[in-house]
Amino acid sequence: MRPDPADPSAALPFYRMVLGEFAARVHRDLAPTRMWGFNNLSPGPVMEVRSGKGVLVEWANQLPQRHLFTIDHNLMGAESDKPDVRSVVHLHGAKAPPESDGYPESWFVGGKSSICHYPNQQDACLLWYHDHAMGINRLNIYAGLLGLYIIRDGAEDALGLPGGAYEIPLVLFDRKFTVDGQLEYGVSPDPAAPWVPEFYGNAVLANGKLFPYLDVQPALYRFRVLNGSNSQFYNLSLSNGQLIAQIGTDQGLLPAPIAAKAVLLAPGERADLAIDFSGSAGEELTLRIGPVEEIMQFRVGRGAAKKVPMPEKLREVVPIAESAAVRTRLLTLNEYKSPKGDSMTMLLGGAHWNAPVTESPILNTVEIWSLINLTEDVHPIHLHLVRFQILDRRTFDKLHYFVKGELKFIGPAMPPDPGERGWKDTVRAHPQMVTRIIARFEGYPGRYVWHCHILEHEDNEMMRPFEVVEGASG
Ligand code: C2O
Ligand code: CU
Ligand code: CU
Repeated sequence: MRPDPADPSAALPFYRMVLGEFAARVHRDLAPTRMWGFNNLSPGPVMEVRSGKGVLVEWANQLPQRHLFTIDHNLMGAESDKPDVRSVVHLHGAKAPPESDGYPESWFVGGKSSICHYPNQQDACLLWYHDHAMGINRLNIYAGLLGLYIIRDGAEDALGLPGGAYEIPLVLFDRKFTVDGQLEYGVSPDPAAPWVPEFYGNAVLANGKLFPYLDVQPALYRFRVLNGSNSQFYNLSLSNGQLIAQIGTDQGLLPAPIAAKAVLLAPGERADLAIDFSGSAGEELTLRIGPVEEIMQFRVGRGAAKKVPMPEKLREVVPIAESAAVRTRLLTLNEYKSPKGDSMTMLLGGAHWNAPVTESPILNTVEIWSLINLTEDVHPIHLHLVRFQILDRRTFDKLHYFVKGELKFIGPAMPPDPGERGWKDTVRAHPQMVTRIIARFEGYPGRYVWHCHILEHEDNEMMRPFEVVEGASG
């Protein structure tokens, strides 16, 4: 994506992103698929910016009057008095002022636009922009409203990691296709309440394509990977069993590369991966999720192998001391089921979206958030504005918690996985475990949100506001 050259006097580079409907081919054997995206692309164009150099982005809604999918008007914020088609864009992982953060209720309709200021005062990392409209977020992102945003900085440049044609942005998401190549989204058996608690497709797309291939040289490549799916987790591996080097996570580089057979990504999480094709000249490899399912192919050229050394140290990640925390919050993840056992809603801290704000960290202070998962699922929990570190995960006695309302641990505290020992903005909260994260609430005072990044959960109240305040704490 290039900034708009029209106005050289503008104080900041200005980008215009148009949200619209179009048809695109996901595979040569499929008819064009009607979808939504940015500037007629889904995933949208990659934005590339420098740390410390702010930009302005105009998000212009030119979506049609009708939604592609069935709206559940029972959901908070999607009542029938709200327009079906509306959007607001959030830059996931950005330290942005509240008015530019894409608050879920700040949606706007077709013909309107909103200009956001992204200061980019943060370390090099891979962010992503996506729709965040209250109650229909899962449908808008599923329709195609997502894209990547890369922040670069000098410390990263100095490492000489693979760049240019050797750096590949890679967005993964699953979609359900009809035989005539159109997108289908699930509905429950009850037409009066169409929401489904999770949704999985029948195809996984890589950069919006089904089973694509990439010609590569026998050399080292860098892949900037996003799991942009609604509900699906991916465990990425290579068909030849070769190790993948993970060099970064959500909010930037890890202290040192980690060699892994497989890399797990929950919805919303990112991984910075280095794959060395230098030993595979003339071969074909595939990228897989799980043991068999193939996503894309790498066709490695026959040229002379290029050996590029991988830096041993990447970027220091200074741990935030637990003693720096001024407050620890105990926050439950709850699921409520109907008498038949169907999931009805999921909440954070037992509170609905509309309940008064209960999390009001003081600007520039450190807090520990203990996520007490009382459900049977893994929930990828995301906080806007801040980056955090994972302290640990620990199994607790759920029954004891329900009966006595107190935490009784029944296992040792487990450190984060090696690939999670960097700055994160989305964390997998495992069932029956307390997952502790630590964050400094820096940036801007104001209203933000935190939520589960399984979009079906988020749309059905697994999202809460939080407010960064100057002065007194709440
Ligand atoms: Cu991916 Cu609220 O964000
Ligand atoms: Cu976000
Ligand atoms: Cu969830």
